[in-house]
Amino acid sequence: MTRLVQLAPSILNADWTRLADQIEQLESAGADWISLDVMDGNFVPPITFGAQMASAVRGLTSLPIEAHLMVEHPEGQVDDFVDAGVNCVTIHIESTRHPHRLLQRIAERGVEAGITLNPGTPLSEIEAVLPICGRVQVMSVNPGWGGQRFIPESLDRIRQAREMLDDCGREDARVAVDGGVNESTIAAIVEAGADWLVAGSAVFNDRESVAGAIARLRRALARD
Ligand code: DX5
Repeated sequence: MTRLVQLAPSILNADWTRLADQIEQLESAGADWISLDVMDGNFVPPITFGAQMASAVRGLTSLPIEAHLMVEHPEGQVDDFVDAGVNCVTIHIESTRHPHRLLQRIAERGVEAGITLNPGTPLSEIEAVLPICGRVQVMSVNPGWGGQRFIPESLDRIRQAREMLDDCGREDARVAVDGGVNESTIAAIVEAGADWLVAGSAVFNDRESVAGAIARLRRALARD
């Protein structure tokens, strides 16, 4: 099955004092999604924002929004993000005792349910929930910060995630990648089987405009 590669810039490294303008630049530059890195200071050390930020972003764009919940006990957060108007909620397999029940809840609310896992978590941990997920998100950095180096062992995990989804009849589901996606890693990531890419510091940085950065990523994809 051929899948269009979708770019989902993360606003983690955006200028939050100019968020409306930054999001308008994403839209003009042809971003496919917007990714929100929700961090609670417990599951990961930093704290970023909650569902109110999702509501604010929802009011600024018609682009689909993904909420990546890097939080302990996401059960208490999911409904607020769905009510805020996000299109996908991605939870960490490490963050809840009942991932299957929570993913069912997300899907019942009419929102795409995503499962993600840290670089140190075996992919076997997510096997039981794959049939009810719209995506598997392979973390290619240890979560919590933007601008980190891509972990090269992630390429095998991307391949494995794709195989696992296909083996359980979910050829329709996406393989997402989050962390260290940039001009030099993007081609290998897609070649390994990913089709939905979070990019934070490769899009929002002081080297070039958002449009220039996204065009650079698209060119790097087109090269192969
Ligand atoms: C977890 C975050 C980051 C962010 C992307 O730390 O999820 O991975 O989205 O950051 P970059 O693209 O700068 O690695």
